[in-house]
Amino acid sequence: MKRILLGVSGGIAAYKSAELVRLLRKQGAQVQVVMTKSAMQFISPLTFQALSGNPVHTELLDADVENAMGHISLARWADVLLIAPATANILAKLAHGLADDLLTTVYLAATCPVVVAPAMNQAMWNKAVTQENVEKLLRHGVKVMGPEQGDQACGETGYGRMTEPTAICAQLFAQTESGDSKDNHYLAGHKVLISAGPTCEPFDPVRYLTNRSSGKMGYALAQAALNAGAEVTLVSGPVALLAPVGVELIKVTTAEQMYQAVMSKAVSHSIYIGAAAVADYSPVVNQPEKIKKQAEQLTLVLQKNKDILAAVAALNDCPFTVGFAAETHDLETYARDKLTRKNLDMIAANWVGQEQGGFDSDQNALHVFWADGDKSLPMIDKTQLAEQLMALIAEQLKAV
Ligand code: C5P
Repeated sequence: MKRILLGVSGGIAAYKSAELVRLLRKQGAQVQVVMTKSAMQFISPLTFQALSGNPVHTELLDADVENAMGHISLARWADVLLIAPATANILAKLAHGLADDLLTTVYLAATCPVVVAPAMNQAMWNKAVTQENVEKLLRHGVKVMGPEQGDQACGETGYGRMTEPTAICAQLFAQTESGDSKDNHYLAGHKVLISAGPTCEPFDPVRYLTNRSSGKMGYALAQAALNAGAEVTLVSGPVALLAPVGVELIKVTTAEQMYQAVMSKAVSHSIYIGAAAVADYSPVVNQPEKIKKQAEQLTLVLQKNKDILAAVAALNDCPFTVGFAAETHDLETYARDKLTRKNLDMIAANWVGQEQGGFDSDQNALHVFWADGDKSLPMIDKTQLAEQLMALIAEQLKAV
């Protein structure tokens, strides 16, 4: 059972942390909560006491604690210190080693992994000094989850919303389960190349053709490969996701750029996973000026793009190559056909269409095929699914 020390600092997102405690406990974790003074103005300690089943800690110097060293024993107790929400102020204090209350002092005393889930107004998040503080914390080994993009309590829109409790909980368990423990580094020494997200094929300065893809599966795979101890390169089309901390991120827009980026990296990697929704065709002409609305009909001439996955698999010293197949019918037939036609080592197929997971969803189910076997992975969170798929890839890699 995991022991999670939840630090709550003073932001409006503090109310979401109540739900977070409930979810963490549902996963079987023990939770203790430390609140800052300003957090208590947003939500009562009693709420966290009731949900965690433990008294809430708020004072640095607590005469009730026998030797008045509550911060040390709390730091020793925790398997993970999770600070959610983490305000701009708390991030600044952590980055500079200030310790003027219980939470900041526990952070200094903690030797366990530390995860922060920032939440603040988008301008505060974008401020250079906040970004510098976050970079500093990343260098110090702190994991940063979010923030997400969207509408904010202050009425503005942008990056600054705290990551949803369900996602924090899922990521926390995915990361700590596969463990930062060396025993779980089954891909140590491997270099994993992953392509993710859609590609955009422009035909004038304001328009493009694209595929539906959030990039969530590819990004979750990048995190799973990192957790397994691999060095990870992520070639990504335009998505609204933050890359996992520690990956080499190469941002691309078009299928041709993705092809160039992947091909320049493929031979130096031992695994390639093509999770991107690459456009099959792109407009032959990209007009330099916006096409005016005049003719009743407009014809776009499209040219077939290179198949990146097949090109990687055709390389002399090709990595273990894994593709994806999103199908609306005859899943196994089409998936197996792609496996052989593109000369892949493995293919992960999923149903798409109404009532399926897939595209924007946080969940998905996969049926994975390789030359002499297959395995079904059930409908679960993409972070967990990615962990399972990565383990399967490693297993098959060993077998070849
Ligand atoms: O043939 P189909 O597009 O259905 O195959 C899907 C798989 O092929 C995915 O893994 C996708 O990333 C990859 N692909 C590619 N280059 C393309 C088209 C698809 O690598 N031009």
